[in-house]
Amino acid sequence: MQKQNLPIGVFDSGVGGVSVLRELVRIMPNENFIYIGDSKNAPYGTKSHEEIFVHAQNCADILINKGVKALVVACNTATSVCIEELRQKYTDLPVIGIEPALKPAVMSKDNPVVVVMATPLTLKEKKFADLCKKFEKKADIIPLPCPGLMELVEEGHTSDNVVREFLENCFLKTGRTTFDTVVLGCTHYPFVKGVISELHPETMIFDGGEGTARQVKRLLLKNGLLNSCDKKGEVVFQNTLNSKAVNDLALKLMNI
Ligand code: DGL
Repeated sequence: MQKQNLPIGVFDSGVGGVSVLRELVRIMPNENFIYIGDSKNAPYGTKSHEEIFVHAQNCADILINKGVKALVVACNTATSVCIEELRQKYTDLPVIGIEPALKPAVMSKDNPVVVVMATPLTLKEKKFADLCKKFEKKADIIPLPCPGLMELVEEGHTSDNVVREFLENCFLKTGRTTFDTVVLGCTHYPFVKGVISELHPETMIFDGGEGTARQVKRLLLKNGLLNSCDKKGEVVFQNTLNSKAVNDLALKLMNI
């Protein structure tokens, strides 16, 4: 098979990376994708560096053994912890990560108050500190760790009272009742965007899904790897628990 026609591999600790996958499919409908949710080892956001690097390599190896042409780390936590190590290890293919979409949030108005929701680990990492340094003079940035939120999404709570109550409590920790923008710095969180909008209708919400998908497309083009086939591509879902229920949830999330 020609290299261009190979699938793109995408992984996350669970179903969260589907928020990136749906953007990838939207902008590159003719590509084929294999998605792996590492549900067996979720959550990543409260684990150590060493553990996350081991789990991320495991997902990458599964995808590479299936013959993918590019690797998308659809997880902010794994990107923060080990994207450079993954790039050093897998030199034969483009490896693309995701980071909190701080730039568009900061640029959306003068001196905004920006809440960045993410896993505890993402917010503790040097990568996030470096990102904040670039914008700290232009915005009031409030990091908001949300341990437990990915688990709710994994259980299928995306728009009910359970998630609403969780988010209300979370936002109390900011010490503010209003903010200009919210950055969803974990790929699970776009699935609860509707509830965040209801709780804070005045707030603009940003996530890195579309930007990451565009970066994947740019890199494929640059490396001569874009699929030339003009029929609609396929998406295959797998997870490390071999759970049908998890695959069904992933499929459902593709369409919300
Ligand atoms: N979806 C992941 C992220 O973007 C991680 C959630 C977790 O495993 O804690 O950070």
